Amino acid sequence: MSQELSLRSLLSDSPLPQGEARLLMAYVLEKHYQLPRSALLSHDDMVLSSEANLQWQSLQSKRLAGEPIAYLIGKRGFHGIELYVAPGVLIPRPETELLVEIGLQEIARLHGAAKVLDLGTGSGAIALALANAAPQVLVTATDQSSKALDIAKTNAQLLKLEARVQLIQGSWYKALSDDTRFDIILSNPPYISNLDPHLGQGDLRFEPISALTDHGNGLSCLEAIIAGAQAYLNPNGLIAVEHGYDQSDAVVNLMKITGLSDVQTHLDLAGHRRVASGRNTGGQ
Ligand SMILES: C[S@@+](CC[C@H](N)C(=O)[O-])C[C@H]1O[C@@H](n2cnc3c(N)ncnc32)[C@H](O)[C@@H]1O
Repeated sequence: MSQELSLRSLLSDSPLPQGEARLLMAYVLEKHYQLPRSALLSHDDMVLSSEANLQWQSLQSKRLAGEPIAYLIGKRGFHGIELYVAPGVLIPRPETELLVEIGLQEIARLHGAAKVLDLGTGSGAIALALANAAPQVLVTATDQSSKALDIAKTNAQLLKLEARVQLIQGSWYKALSDDTRFDIILSNPPYISNLDPHLGQGDLRFEPISALTDHGNGLSCLEAIIAGAQAYLNPNGLIAVEHGYDQSDAVVNLMKITGLSDVQTHLDLAGHRRVASGRNTGGQ
């Protein structure tokens, strides 16, 4: 019997892909035995207590029912930091690291000191990754969702970045006072069309709908963010927004119509046009 419950046999009998099974088992070992991930190999003949085994079975069932791994283990790595995540907040995606990279390039151009705005911060991913990588920046991060802001606040505290990352609740620029200006505005807003079948598939089924879709054609949040940017950017300030793989032409067009200059598109690691950026040369 105990043979059947050794880590080795539990993992090899798991119907989950091995990578996922190992992530969940590492979580169980950390929670119940304070063991590091390496124990998956070094303790592979270990027999789980009935309590730990119950949790393993429960996590495995939830994953088989489709719940995202990041929610099950409560964390996700993003641009060199570890973020606490829970239902109610979007799980940060690797492609969003491109926005962080664009922000960091601009911060370097400004010699390290910059005021940055992250609109729709969710878990705080973009704001906290930037503040972590650029020690002189001050970041304002907003979200409409109080649940998201609670999680972002927890992350700011865990990463000891709360002194440089201010969190404010409100809809896009309404969260800010009129005279606030930034050097950089970054945003990964909800941009999935409400007709997109992906909303009913995979991890997306478990993520907050208001983080995924604008409940319209996918462009309305991008439009609001781009239209308002110049009023909140310093002269020559940069705005960069993430968008869907097929929205690049529309977003570039929105930026040009708004009067932003130096409009550029940026490719993600998969080669998709994923981010558009532009500058406020209006001197407002
Ligand atoms: C795609 S998620 C991005 C979260 C995070 N920035 C990231 O990249 O992981 C979009 C975020 O925008 C927020 N949001 C949606 N509508 C908003 C609005 N009108 N004003 C402010 N934030 C909004 C959602 O709550 C969600 O946290």
